[in-house]
Amino acid sequence: MKYNADVFITDPPVIFYLPPMPAIREMFDQIHKRYDLLNHLMSASRDFAWRKACCKRLPKKENAVVLDLCGGTGDFSIAYKKNNGEPKLSMVGDFAGKMLNAAAKKDLSLKLIQMDATQVPLVANSVDIILNGFGMRNIRDLDTAFSEAFRVLKHGGYFATLEFFKPERTFPKLFYKKIAPLVIPFAGMVLSKHNAYRYLVLSILSFITPKEYAAKARNAGFTLRCIKALDGGLAHIVICEKK
Ligand SMILES: C[S@@+](CC[C@H](N)C(=O)[O-])C[C@H]1O[C@@H](n2cnc3c(N)ncnc32)[C@H](O)[C@@H]1O
Repeated sequence: MKYNADVFITDPPVIFYLPPMPAIREMFDQIHKRYDLLNHLMSASRDFAWRKACCKRLPKKENAVVLDLCGGTGDFSIAYKKNNGEPKLSMVGDFAGKMLNAAAKKDLSLKLIQMDATQVPLVANSVDIILNGFGMRNIRDLDTAFSEAFRVLKHGGYFATLEFFKPERTFPKLFYKKIAPLVIPFAGMVLSKHNAYRYLVLSILSFITPKEYAAKARNAGFTLRCIKALDGGLAHIVICEKK
């Protein structure tokens, strides 16, 4: 079933929709309480600046319909509002219901959709901006996620990714291969009592590079607008347009 984005203006805030991929979903559900804290601690609060930098690179759109794909606890949607103005509709889509509940506690105006990024329950050409913060790395079928993003975006719509890609330069290679495997799983285990943070490091090292990601976006029909390395390549912004 596909919804028109406009229904979320009046509908109840949480719409439950087919939750697949149980292992990753359960992992995020289990860490939802400490997710934000660990995010800020492990990035030395740089995640705020990274989201802001990404939002600033998007064109200003009046009355935008925004989908925060893999939006988790909603921080990217909140950054978008602060930096780009109030959208007409701000949807957070994620398959982990507990992450979405944490988003609801922060901002009641967010419309939450429990959904899989490879089966977006929205009609075609209905969204102006898709945000994706640290989500695509967790999706096994990236090509389908790209084609779903392309399908639901309007022509002239933008898909903005903020992600930890497979490191290419010396500094991020050193960080993700030598320092992060020692520090991040340990801090994660102490603070969230969960081994998800071992997965975090492995998922970065086994992901693709920004250029490979951009090639996948192009294959789905997107036009690349920018690739920007942040903090020496620890994170990257990739912005694409559906022309
Ligand atoms: C690292 S968190 C990022 C959360 C948020 N975007 C942020 O910037 O902090 C990744 C999120 O992606 C979600 N996710 C992973 N795979 C997904 C999929 N196939 N469909 C929907 N959500 C997914 C997880 O549940 C999790 O909330």
